[in-house]
Order: sequence, then structure tokens, then C-alpha cells
Amino acid sequence: MKKLRIATIGVGRFGIFHLHAFRQLEEILNVELVAAAEIDATKHSAIKNNFNIPVYSNYLEMIEKENLDAVSVATVDYQHKDIVLNSLMHGLHVLVEKPLDTNSIGSLEMVNIAKERKLILQIDFHKRYDPYHVEIKDLVKKNRFGDFLYGYCYMEDQIVVPRDWFKDWVSNTSPAWFLGSNFIDLISWLMNSRVKSVYAKGQKNKLQKLGLDTYDSITSMLTFENNAIITLDSSWVLPENFSSIVNQGFRLIGTEGIVEADSHNRGTTSCFTSEKGIRNHNSGFMHLEKDIYGKPRYVGYGINSIQHFIENVVHLKNGLTLNELEGTYPSGIDGHEVTKAIEAIHLSIETGEVIDVQKGKELCSKVV
Ligand SMILES: NC(=O)c1ccc[n+]([C@@H]2O[C@H](COP(=O)([O-])OP(=O)(O)OC[C@H]3O[C@@H](n4cnc5c(N)ncnc54)[C@H](O)[C@@H]3O)[C@@H](O)[C@H]2O)c1
Repeated sequence: MKKLRIATIGVGRFGIFHLHAFRQLEEILNVELVAAAEIDATKHSAIKNNFNIPVYSNYLEMIEKENLDAVSVATVDYQHKDIVLNSLMHGLHVLVEKPLDTNSIGSLEMVNIAKERKLILQIDFHKRYDPYHVEIKDLVKKNRFGDFLYGYCYMEDQIVVPRDWFKDWVSNTSPAWFLGSNFIDLISWLMNSRVKSVYAKGQKNKLQKLGLDTYDSITSMLTFENNAIITLDSSWVLPENFSSIVNQGFRLIGTEGIVEADSHNRGTTSCFTSEKGIRNHNSGFMHLEKDIYGKPRYVGYGINSIQHFIENVVHLKNGLTLNELEGTYPSGIDGHEVTKAIEAIHLSIETGEVIDVQKGKELCSKVV
């Protein structure tokens, strides 16, 4: 059988890991990483040298020339839609970084086209692949919690992320889109329930003083369809000497049980004279190992999530149907539900009202 031909569109800070994940799969699946598209030509030679693939400035030209089966899209939060739609229209299966879109009209359009064309639209919601979270999902499946009542989750980045890494596009996103999306999907997946309504407040303070027009933090009260009430804090102004780039965790309480997960401090702490303060290591996310031949390879749930997409495409080529895969991966519909919830969060901040996420009418608020 012909090898599946894969490519990545948008090779920035995170897209590079898509390329590593796909390259590593060549050893175990009948797949081939054949190309990348990156609009910034200054990045081309490094990609070509590291992966030995052609790099296109224009992703449409790559799609026309490379006879692809699947692409991953790792452009920034608000730049997914056109690329995803064009890829689907060319008959390609698509993995897209979270959030699917920052507008629910766009996310719905992507879901509909994927459905119409019978193609996979998968979202890189990697928190579902964290083994500590998978164990909690197993406890939910065994009905150990009874009825979920309430909970709390938080995801907070050091200020370097909006101030230094994303300063060019930070005004087009928010901590709810960039960080909160991960936990809304995780909690929805764990409880098997969608967000029904939201009430939210946002703070604009430190980043505005630095000339960056985005929220420092957003606190949301999410009511789910199962009536559980979950508070979500998302922020990106932690001091840059915090013990890791991201602080994250959650607790869920039901009528019959409680779980608390520190998804940031997994028990490994280090301190060196050459560095400021102590560090915590979430090694399960992604790290570089060497195999017995000394060949480096990335491992962790951040890689597994990307590779799962290709495994799904292989399953389809081997005769499984999309219906048979349903519920086994973070789908376009799941991404659309998260987009609706976060759109409602921003609308709630703007209006001061509780917003019904499931009214049936797309909210289509201004993004941030
Ligand atoms: N899953 C995760 O853990 C995780 C972590 C960080 C970021 N992300 C998500 O990944 C996405 C990308 O984030 P990032 O940090 O890599 O951003 P980035 O700005 O570093 O990279 C985006 C890249 O896309 C390129 N690009 C833009 N338009 C393009 C086009 N039309 N064709 C080809 N290339 C184009 C840019 O030049 C840039 O190199 C975001 O949606 C972000 O939320 C996910």
C-alpha cells in the first residue's frame, strides 16, 4: 500500500513538534512526512536542514504539488479557519491546534465541511492524553464520583508567554482562548458533559501597562449540562521566576468522591546555582530521549496527541469508518463546543450577563 503523505502548515514554536512527531512515526507506520508550509522564509533553511523536506511559503502550492493525505495546522489561534477549510476542500484529513477557532461561526463551518467530505477534523487537545488524566477518566467510567457537583481548574503561564513569545498576536487572543481552552475540553471530556452557561469576569492591568491589549486573567463560572459548576482561572502574568512556564491543575467533586490533580508539579523539583530559584518538571508532557542507538526522539502526551491523529488516518485507510472512530479522539465538534463556551465567556465579560452557550444560535461575539 502507498505510504500516507503528511505535512504541517505553520512551523513556529509549536509546529516544529508536529514535524518531529510525524517524522518519528515513519519508523512504525506506513506514513511519510513529505513537506511543510511556513510563511516566514527566514525559518525555511532550519526546517529543510533538520527534516530534509521541501518548505513552501504558500500552503496552497504545497497542497497542489505534494499529493497529500493529511495535514496538521499550527498557525496562531485566530488563523486556523481559512487554512483548515482549504485543506478539507482539497480532501485532506486535518489536525488543528487548539482552539479550533476564535469564532463559532468559523468553527461550525469547519465541522460541517469535514462531515460533508467524510474527513477527520481532530483538535490537539493533549490534556486528554496525560496519563494522570486518563486514570481519572477511568474512575469516571467506573462511576466512582456519583453526580458531579462542582470543581475548580486553573492554567496560568509566566508573563514571558504574552509579553515576549506572542507579543505580535496577543491582542487577537486571550488567556481563555490560549490556556482555558485546554481545561474546558479536559473537564468536558472527563465529565462527558458540555458547557451550558457561563458567567465571567476579566482583568486588564499589567499587560495593558506594557502596551499589550489583552486580559491578564479571566475567571469563569461554567455550568455544565450535568449541572456541575466549575470555576476556571486562566491567566498569563505569573512572575518569570515561577518554577515552570505553566502552572495548572484541577479538582472535581461529586456526590460520591473527590479528585485533585496537580498537573504542574509531578514531583520532580530541581535547583541549580546557575539558575534563579527552583524548577518543577512536567516531564510527561514532552521531552527528548535517546534510543539505544543514541538517536533522539520526543516522548510524552504532547507528542502522543499529535501522533494519534495519524493513527486515526491510518485506521480509516485500513477500512474503519469515521462513525467507528467517533468518541475516541478530540473531534471538530468538541473543538466547536469549546469555541462556543469561550466566545460566551468573552460575551459575559463584555455584557456582565450570564450567557447561555447552548441556545442554538451562534454567539459570534467580538473575539476579545
Ligand atoms: N498544544 C499545545 O501544547 C500548544 C502549545 C503552544 C501553542 N499551541 C497552539 O499552537 C498554535 C501555534 O502557536 P505557536 O506558539 O507555534 O505560534 P508561532 O507564532 O510560534 O507559530 C505560528 C507559525 O505559523 C506561521 N504562519 C502563519 N500564517 C501562515 C500561513 N498562512 N502559512 C504557513 N505558515 C503560517 C508563522 O509564520 C509562524 O511561524 C496556536 O494555536 C497555539 O495556541 C499549542
